[in-house]
Amino acid sequence: MKEQLEAIRSRAAAELEQASDPQALEALRVKYLGKKGELTAILKQMGGLSAEERPVIGQLANEVRAFLEDVISRRAASLKAAELEKKLEAEKLDVTLPGTHREIGHKHPLTVVLDELKEIFIGMGFDIVEGPEVEYDYYNFEALNIPKNHPARDTQDTFYINDNILLRTQTSSVQVRVMEKQKPPIRVISPGRVYRSDAVDATHSPLFHQIEGLVVDKDVTFADLKGTLEIFVKQLYGEDSVVRFRPHHFPFTEPSAELDVQCFHCHGEGCRLCKGEGWIELLGCGMVHPKVLLGCNIDPEVYSGFAFGIGLERLVMRRYNIDDLRLFYENDVRFLKQF
Ligand code: DAH
Repeated sequence: MKEQLEAIRSRAAAELEQASDPQALEALRVKYLGKKGELTAILKQMGGLSAEERPVIGQLANEVRAFLEDVISRRAASLKAAELEKKLEAEKLDVTLPGTHREIGHKHPLTVVLDELKEIFIGMGFDIVEGPEVEYDYYNFEALNIPKNHPARDTQDTFYINDNILLRTQTSSVQVRVMEKQKPPIRVISPGRVYRSDAVDATHSPLFHQIEGLVVDKDVTFADLKGTLEIFVKQLYGEDSVVRFRPHHFPFTEPSAELDVQCFHCHGEGCRLCKGEGWIELLGCGMVHPKVLLGCNIDPEVYSGFAFGIGLERLVMRRYNIDDLRLFYENDVRFLKQF
């Protein structure tokens, strides 16, 4: 029996070392240590041994069992390690491979200039506010001293949701919304989309952008309007810019004016860029009409203010010498990449 045990020990050890995967190892464990295994079979015969032999063989049998268990667990560990190694090998990363190229976009030219403009006005102490694009007739027209049937409505035909609700034609609507909520001092600009039912061509689009400005406080005069807008133009176009104010009419300001900047190309001589005028129209402005203040419960005897409205597209077209407004909305990257 002793020889049998020794034989099992050396044969099993050799076979176990050869086991090439966990399944083969398990099969060998069953073959030797399982209920019907070879070692178990020998132990079952111990009953036939003499009283002197039994403890000797018993001890040897335990030694062989412990030895085999040890070999099995070591072999299992090394098979597992080998498997992991194989997996890592198969999933190897090549960190020197060039990465996937991703296109990184950048700001749209309208946004580039709008951001600059915001910075200029923030620098002068203005806040930025927003208003709804779907607007009541009241805020877009009525409260701005443009009653129903007023001829000014003809130039601002728009898209109506119903008789009282429309897509706003001008950011001036925000003036009223701000004055209803906030009492003077007020110093805000409000950029945003506006709509008009115009046919698309090189200078018209049913959707475009405006930036509204509003200042209301005690003792605000036309001199404040001129100073503020002149600083704005100089910051945007350069210190040597020359501006002029030309009388105009808007229903919600009195007096009203348009601000022109002298053509930077010909310096007032007249050229193709300024269409021979020497001046380029930049924005509309004026002193807030007393009726508009009153409508917002601001006493025109105590407070006064000025307002202005800038067309963003036109500003950007001038800045970059773009001659067709449609380019802004076509999303052609060959165009957009140039800014
Ligand atoms: N809302 C005017 C327009 O769309 C522009 C404008 C003119 C705005 C004068 C103003 C202003 O605030 O004072 O034609």
